[in-house]
Amino acid sequence: MNELDDPKIYAADPDDFLGVVEELPDQVRQGWRLGLGAEGIEPAEVSNVCVLGMGGSGVSGDVLRAVLGPKMRVPVAVSKGYTLPSWVSSGSLVLAVSYSGNTEETLATFDAAVKLGARIVCVTTGGALAQRAAQEGVPLIQIPGGLQPRAALGFLAMPLLAIVQRMGLCPPIDADVEDALQLLGTRSDQMHRKVPTSDNQAKQLATTLLGKLPIVYGSEGIAEVAAYRWKCQFNECAKIPSWWHSFPELNHNEIVGWDQLQPLTSESCAAVVLRHPGEHPRTSKRVQITTGLIEANVASMTPVRTEGRSDLAAFLDLVQVGDFTATYLALLQGVDPTPVDVITHLKDELAKS
Ligand code: PA5
Repeated sequence: MNELDDPKIYAADPDDFLGVVEELPDQVRQGWRLGLGAEGIEPAEVSNVCVLGMGGSGVSGDVLRAVLGPKMRVPVAVSKGYTLPSWVSSGSLVLAVSYSGNTEETLATFDAAVKLGARIVCVTTGGALAQRAAQEGVPLIQIPGGLQPRAALGFLAMPLLAIVQRMGLCPPIDADVEDALQLLGTRSDQMHRKVPTSDNQAKQLATTLLGKLPIVYGSEGIAEVAAYRWKCQFNECAKIPSWWHSFPELNHNEIVGWDQLQPLTSESCAAVVLRHPGEHPRTSKRVQITTGLIEANVASMTPVRTEGRSDLAAFLDLVQVGDFTATYLALLQGVDPTPVDVITHLKDELAKS
């Protein structure tokens, strides 16, 4: 029997991180509704959109950029740091996202956006960001607390999509959301802890990756952001190094780097390639050639395909497989997937000065 099929293994997950992963479809539905129901969101002319946020919160901006960016009337970018891009102005829509509400980079850029007179909306559970939003009369979407930020992707990202739709900056995506929810529900059932490894894609992949350094590749757009998300989940849930890159860019640099350390990489690196139906046909060709070229340099090469019809469904499906896989991998290692002690320590040290 695979260890993941033995209920005893779940003792390593006292806060039930896996339970939150299993509930992603419901969280996505709730996040969408929170965004649709939020007060103070009106159709408006804006010249660009800038999302502020770091780590597990900032990735919600990457989701907006990848899923809706190509369909939006105005450009969207994500600011992950202490300084706003110079093009943010009073004509910008600024979406400040922080799960805790206390992330210093996000607070710094929020303050700068207030000074510029930008139109702002905040997404947070509370903290200093909620206080400052109240002081400044900025619309606030308050999301449920008690989770790790990376376990709250549905609460953090879906309101952003809803805001952009309500402001008339993209075509309506209600049908895509329904489509995504249906797919997520089916796939979540298939990867649930009760489904044995023999029939469970995420348990199988976690078993393949055990003891290896995962390299996650995806194609530009949604699979690129999904690959980044997978890498971060391997870091924060399984507490292992991981790297990611995207097609076609990696064909112009990283592909050469598989040349010299073959004895090391073929023993220790395991590649995962995220595929989706919306790939550019030339990118599909590139993926096919590239995987053939590097197959002998890695311990395993696993394609992960989604059949999601919309970009949103495909993206969330890929993310969900990654979240399950990283959590199962943590458990196979006997590691608690929830805490991120190093991040907490770093923030405590920074707070002293
Ligand atoms: O996963 C994490 O805990 C981090 O990446 C946090 O999301 C990041 O430090 C930012 O904090 P917050 O999400 O509370 O703004």
